[in-house]
Amino acid sequence: MSSHKAVIFDLDGVIVDTAKFHFQAWKKLANDLGFDFTHEQNEQLKGVSRVESLKKILKWGDMELSEEEFNRQMALKNDNYLSYVEEMDENEILPGVPKVLKYLKENNIPFALGSASKNARTILKKIKLYEDFDAIVDGTDVSKAKPDPEVFLIAAEKLKAEPQDCVVFEDSVAGVEAANIGKMTSIGIGDEKVLQEADHIFNDFTEISIEFIENLLRKE
Ligand code: BG6
Ligand code: MG
Repeated sequence: MSSHKAVIFDLDGVIVDTAKFHFQAWKKLANDLGFDFTHEQNEQLKGVSRVESLKKILKWGDMELSEEEFNRQMALKNDNYLSYVEEMDENEILPGVPKVLKYLKENNIPFALGSASKNARTILKKIKLYEDFDAIVDGTDVSKAKPDPEVFLIAAEKLKAEPQDCVVFEDSVAGVEAANIGKMTSIGIGDEKVLQEADHIFNDFTEISIEFIENLLRKE
């Protein structure tokens, strides 16, 4: 099959900064259970699924919960998180992102979302980008979490592109690894010391020029 270039975006930490809302909600859960939760710990939850995040937090708090209480706490945390999401609008889109999306649209380069979040569709609607993506693959569509490349491979398939023709924007170590395992080009958004496995690294989208994107998407 003849393939074409395509782009896949992670959501949290790439298109929007939702880590601050996750922090508030996880901190409340930890505090209610009687222990603290730090920003450093929150950093370690980037790209980690909801279930795995709570498992890690309980370990840090040296606490065990019954399955029923685990699920109840997780639901409470998500309700609390969604109360922050409720307040989101297009102003939450991170600087530099709209310019890149506009370029892709104008040049008919298909792009998808590839996120671990089960709230991805809700968030995209709040920031008014839901209609812009050619495909959306999120935590409700996958059975294996990043660093398994499943989420990106499904996205590539939906965009009818070969994995090696896909460029992935990611802020988490697990996400960069997933893109690499999937044989895609990985662009790390964040600290170069943390994301050193990525093919290219930028602190944020304001550092990414259209020339860079053009070169990246040029068909050899
Ligand atoms: C990832 C975030 O994108 O989604 C994680 O980086 C989060 O911090 C995970 O835990 C799952 O999100 P949600 O919205 O399904 O709880
Ligand atoms: Mg992320």
